[in-house]
Amino acid sequence: MSILKVIKERRSVRKYKSDAIPDDVLQRVLEAARFSPSGKNLQPWKFILVHDEFLKKRLVDASVTQTFIAEAPVVVVACGFPDQCYSRMGNYMKSWAVDVAIAFEHLVLQAQEEGLGTCWIGAFEEKDVKSILNVPEGVKVLALTPLGYPDENPMPRGRKSLEDIVSYNSY
Ligand SMILES: Cc1cc2nc3c(=O)[nH]c(=O)nc-3n(C[C@H](O)[C@H](O)[C@H](O)COP(=O)(O)O)c2cc1C
Repeated sequence: MSILKVIKERRSVRKYKSDAIPDDVLQRVLEAARFSPSGKNLQPWKFILVHDEFLKKRLVDASVTQTFIAEAPVVVVACGFPDQCYSRMGNYMKSWAVDVAIAFEHLVLQAQEEGLGTCWIGAFEEKDVKSILNVPEGVKVLALTPLGYPDENPMPRGRKSLEDIVSYNSY
């Protein structure tokens, strides 16, 4: 599939089948994250795959009770390393959140290519997620996503027009 088709056909999926994900499919989804670019190639990330039903339910509680998260066979939790990243991005910020976000989106797009659904979850309580998954101090949790076969076909959400978001030669 062309990359633009994958990008345009991706949706946030909020209803999942419980069907297992074949291992070769899961490996390709993770490879997409692994090959992501990052500031100074420091790769300041780790992805926790949560299969355990009890832990998935606890992650739902830590994510404002978004129950669909636990429907999927796997929940991916993206973590970043603020102390091991490019620290002068734009000469004003650390790169870890950008690095992890790019890698996570690679994962999301490969999932789409494989017929899997995802949904970026940003509404979560970080301290609770860290406690549930034994994430060490100094490591940040950026996002979660359920990963599984969609049990719905969501309508596309609108986007701003190119005219609204692009300018040429000046802001
Ligand atoms: C940073 C970020 C955080 C998000 N958090 C949530 C969330 O907690 N729960 C949810 O259902 N969707 C969440 N979304 C999904 C957005 O609502 C969704 O991407 C947007 O409405 C566009 O819809 P689409 O992904 O189907 O194109 C999040 C998306 C992003 C990028």
